[in-house]
Amino acid sequence: MRILIVGSGGREHALSWAIAGSPLADQVFCAPGNAGIAEDAECVAVAADDTLGLIQFCKKAAIDFVVVGPEAPLVAGLVDVLEAEGIAAFGPSAAAAALEASKGFMKDLCAREGIPTAAYRRFSDAAAARAYIAAHGAPIVVKADGLAAGKGVVVAATVAEAEAAVAAALSDGRFGQAGAAIVVEEYLQGEEASFFALVDGENALPLASAQDYKRLLDGDTGPNTGGMGASSPIAAMTEALAGEVMERMILPTARAMARDGRPFRGILYAGLMLTAEGPKLLEYNVRFGDPECQVLMMRLKSDLLPALLACRDGILREVDLRWYDETALCVVMAARGYPDAPVRGGDINGLDAAASDPDVKIFHAGTKRNDGRLVADGGRVLGITALGRGRDEARARAYRAVDRIDWPDGFCRRDIGLSHV
Ligand code: AMP
Ligand code: GLY
Repeated sequence: MRILIVGSGGREHALSWAIAGSPLADQVFCAPGNAGIAEDAECVAVAADDTLGLIQFCKKAAIDFVVVGPEAPLVAGLVDVLEAEGIAAFGPSAAAAALEASKGFMKDLCAREGIPTAAYRRFSDAAAARAYIAAHGAPIVVKADGLAAGKGVVVAATVAEAEAAVAAALSDGRFGQAGAAIVVEEYLQGEEASFFALVDGENALPLASAQDYKRLLDGDTGPNTGGMGASSPIAAMTEALAGEVMERMILPTARAMARDGRPFRGILYAGLMLTAEGPKLLEYNVRFGDPECQVLMMRLKSDLLPALLACRDGILREVDLRWYDETALCVVMAARGYPDAPVRGGDINGLDAAASDPDVKIFHAGTKRNDGRLVADGGRVLGITALGRGRDEARARAYRAVDRIDWPDGFCRRDIGLSHV
């Protein structure tokens, strides 16, 4: 098979690496990819949002199957268009991607189906939102309804902070259309966990659990980011708890989406808060997490590609995935200035030495070649990922590799894998 992966981040590098290792894959392409992905796939200079360009490439290169990494093209309907052109693609339709594209849609679905989530109300009027906040008090959470690149959520410690978040979205238009409506919801406390399942419209297959380290700085401080590291598995996600998440969240969601005429096919990523009252759904994403995908692919023993194909074909029931028991841990190295203004262009050296350990894989998230030199070309730049018997060994391996990398502009958290709850 000839496979195209769409995207250019660490997640897409992990997917390219996993799929390139499949005996089913004759050739793997990635659009647009990055310098690291180029070692596992052939990069093609077509942007992830260039739908026409992607279709032209698929036809010219006789692509059999497309795997879409990021949410934006999914929400824009890339899979719908590819399938309409007769090109098989992995990922939800635009209608099904509403689970991520509209927090209000997702919350209403939870309310209808009795899926445990934070109590909430939807608003497009600022005065009404302020009245609700005044009645409920702080802490309280204000979320832009649409996609806001991870910046649309404010966990407000005070009523004033919550009001400022309402004004930013509804009055100042900070998030454009994505913030023209908001969700105001109850503040939940507990440990966060990421849960992934393949869903083929009817059936669902749970993958491994993972934890994402969203804050920029050590000790879980600083602003939220796309994710500064990840680990898998997580101790808190017992088999019983995973079963509960499947029964109370994933399966009812799949059934409701199918019943409502927008069947979900793809990866359903549940962002969970493990509260004293049990797991509650914070959000759905309709794709693999980044950097959670990196640790999942490191632990996946089975061939990923047949599972993705079966998911697209609606025959997930025939799939059984095996995982290594080891812990996988990913430390993200970001460019100085991330997330606001990352420094681009700095030379990166020492990756060969860092990756010489067979239990270490370095996934590139934002790199390119400049006259043969490897340079930083993004905010999150590298994901140093290690496998070990238990968390401590995986941590030691990952940070040993980090310390071999010579990149003066780069930094990372030093506490990935440690608990902060
Ligand atoms: P989301 O994009 O909805 O996952 O929100 C981003 C982050 O905000 C989450 O990973 C949590 O850390 C935090 N968050 C979101 N909703 C809540 C909530 N209801 N209570 C507490 N923290 C939340
Ligand atoms: N790591 C969080 C995300 O992919 O949304």
